[in-house]
Amino acid sequence: MKRTVVMGMGSWVPERVVTNEEIAFLNERHERCAERQMDTSDEWIQQRTGIRERRYVPNDGSMACSDIAHRAVVPALEDAGVSKAEVDCIIFGTLSPDIHFPGSAVFLQEKLGIAGGACACFDIRQQCSGFLYGMQMADAFIRTGLYERILLVGSELHSHSLDYSTRGRDVAVLFGDGAGAFVLGPADLDDPRAGVVYTDVHADGTGAKDLYLTIFEIARPPYVWYDANDREQNLPKYPQMEGKRVFVNAVKRMAEATHKALADTGMGWNDIDWFVPHQANLRINQKVAEVARIPPEKVLNTIEFYGNTTAATVPLTIDHWRKEGKVKRGDRVLSAVFGSGYTWGSAIFTI
Ligand code: ACO
Repeated sequence: MKRTVVMGMGSWVPERVVTNEEIAFLNERHERCAERQMDTSDEWIQQRTGIRERRYVPNDGSMACSDIAHRAVVPALEDAGVSKAEVDCIIFGTLSPDIHFPGSAVFLQEKLGIAGGACACFDIRQQCSGFLYGMQMADAFIRTGLYERILLVGSELHSHSLDYSTRGRDVAVLFGDGAGAFVLGPADLDDPRAGVVYTDVHADGTGAKDLYLTIFEIARPPYVWYDANDREQNLPKYPQMEGKRVFVNAVKRMAEATHKALADTGMGWNDIDWFVPHQANLRINQKVAEVARIPPEKVLNTIEFYGNTTAATVPLTIDHWRKEGKVKRGDRVLSAVFGSGYTWGSAIFTI
């Protein structure tokens, strides 16, 4: 029976490490200033989120979201033993695209040198749930024979669009830059517990304004407001969040999605090697593990050193622990995600 398998993976984070101590001294171009710019502390950030540091790209205009993706995708293709020319579909999950349109997948396609027309490009906008939404699409495409070599990438460039003043501290301390990618393809497998076993995604638009970034409003001319000297007017430039509501819903939905994945597949924790939750907040993940009774030694996190890289967290976390030698090819992963929208879901797959 034709099933979808993970042929290879890769990830990338920028070199620059920004600690909790340093983030308090950054200006809006994330340059370090002599004076403190944000009233926050390492203690507050670690206690509430578990985050110790995050990675930022340079602020010199040299990198866009598709460049970050490119750096994750090249090793993923090498790992899969797939040439760029064989890729017939790109699914790109991000909330920080290069520009408003076209989507970032076409920029990535061009950077890969495969812009000859034979590779379909999709951009998906499901924020922190983007990677699992993309996996469900890829799985359907592959099982139906529509595409054979799909590059599924989650990539984010957050550092340029955060409010580094005290006003934006609840959001700014959470996010980092990075990307992770899977190469997915078909295989004839009799074992229903191999490859992509299960995907399930959901959304609830009543929570849309609990975490959002406006930048422009098409319904209200002149669509974009920007005055470098008017910080109040520039509020739509920065993400806005109802942190407590997001926290409560994230725990509820990720625990629910985890239970559902096990119930729908008839699997138990003995069948799962690793639980990979979206990396928004270590406290959220600890609570989900408690509520869903997940063996703590099976939970993989990277939020401590990468922060929240939204669409990239799942592949970045798996690839990080694979590079560390903890996760191995053939291991079975249960992943649960929750993000802005609200969107959420779960998946079970072997890597
Ligand atoms: N440093 C110091 N103090 C801060 C900071 C900070 N970085 N941020 C907020 N505070 C202050 C607040 O101003 C407030 O001060 P006050 O009591 O004087 O008014 C106080 O700390 C408590 O603020 P709360 O918002 O009540 O803090 P809370 O315990 O809820 O923690 C947090 C905030 C960490 C953001 C939490 O709500 C959270 O993690 N929510 C979920 C966030 C999340 O997961 N987002 C990503 C979702 S995924 C996606 O799709 C992108």
